[in-house]
Amino acid sequence: MNDDVDSPDRKRRHFLTVATAVTGLVGAGAAAVPFLASLQPSARAKALGAPVEVAIGSLEPGELVRVLWRGRLIFVLRRSDTMLSHLADNLVNLRDPNSEVLEQQPAYAANEHRSVKPEFLVIEGSCTHLGCAPLEDFELRPSENWGGGFFCPCHGSRFDLAGRVFKGVPAPTNLRVPPYRFVNDDLILIGQDTGAA
Ligand code: FES
Repeated sequence: MNDDVDSPDRKRRHFLTVATAVTGLVGAGAAAVPFLASLQPSARAKALGAPVEVAIGSLEPGELVRVLWRGRLIFVLRRSDTMLSHLADNLVNLRDPNSEVLEQQPAYAANEHRSVKPEFLVIEGSCTHLGCAPLEDFELRPSENWGGGFFCPCHGSRFDLAGRVFKGVPAPTNLRVPPYRFVNDDLILIGQDTGAA
């Protein structure tokens, strides 16, 4: 277990990142804690740790949705065929192309796509440097060896479309894959798995 990933500092950064996002949703000046206290029990349970369902049936290829699970921002991206075809382009430039840092994903996501199904990427939207939320940058730019991915605006870390970190950036590890499973072809449950794909 990587001691840093669940350290108090990391959790605090997660909270600050999510609190900022939630505050933005409910209006400037509103605090996250009163917002959580006002939720109905089921919603509050979800905010505190219950699994979260994500409907994926209507997601278009290339479309990304953001959800909260345990106060963490989670990205669900439906990768297009083009996106998938570029996953192997930059392996030499990636720090951990084969997902060898075990803490960063469940065993069922330690594969070339870092996912249960190649089409759907499920990752935490929290930079592994200091916890900022990476931005999507899906534009293909072959001249820059960029096949699309995520860019962290805080200190410039870059990740590919499987959340794998590039060499030479501050983030030390790939974006983390949370536990999840497919309830059916149209529904993902984040926060719960069966221990196997
Ligand atoms: S927090 Fe992302 S690069 Fe520093």
